[in-house]
Amino acid sequence: MRLLITAGPTREPIDPVRFLSNRSSGRMGYALAAAAHAAGHEVLLISGPVVIPAPSGVQLIRIETAREMYDAVRTHLPGCTAAIFSAAVADYRPAQAATQKIKKSATTLTLELERTEDILGSVRSTFGFTGFLVGFAAETENLIPHAQDKLQRKGCDLIVANDVSQSGIGFDSTENEVTLCLPGGHTIPLPRQSKTSIADELIQFISSRI
Ligand code: CTP
Repeated sequence: MRLLITAGPTREPIDPVRFLSNRSSGRMGYALAAAAHAAGHEVLLISGPVVIPAPSGVQLIRIETAREMYDAVRTHLPGCTAAIFSAAVADYRPAQAATQKIKKSATTLTLELERTEDILGSVRSTFGFTGFLVGFAAETENLIPHAQDKLQRKGCDLIVANDVSQSGIGFDSTENEVTLCLPGGHTIPLPRQSKTSIADELIQFISSRI
């Protein structure tokens, strides 16, 4: 199958030298891309800035902002059998990025932020994608109810839920522990293990559902 995967953080410019971003390392998405390629699938990886190398055999598109990721997904989604949205997309960006470096003067500085494009939320409603759709939910409380709600609102076939309040898993770490949330309220826990092994299980699971 042809698989689109988003990964890593986005960067939302404040001025030419500063940005808003988050701690995403991209490891989960890159592990998924490597696992899918190893399983014989054709993979397109749309990635924000990360330090890890691209898996071999995978088509990589580099983006920086949520807007660029939205445009890349819209362009490349047609023809894909499945799409996995593991990127940690910034939910807000500075309403106006300064064209020159902001100099310090006042003791406080207020940034006005505006919502970014909800990429996963546009896949069914705006892009008309009919393939298998997988989202991630990083939550600090009420993990399963929040993930089930996301599954329904965004028209996903699967939400991979992880509790980011636990140290040593999830954001910026090599291990993860997730719960697969499926339509009908079904859940499948995947115990703590390396992101590589979670990725192998996820790709097997997705392949079995298509
Ligand atoms: N996502 C996306 N575009 C965004 C934000 C998120 O595609 N602008 C995707 C992520 O890649 C992930 C899922 O949406 O697959 C999780 O999004 P999240 O921000 O947690 O969901 P929301 O419904 O916006 O809920 P919350 O109120 O928790 O932010």
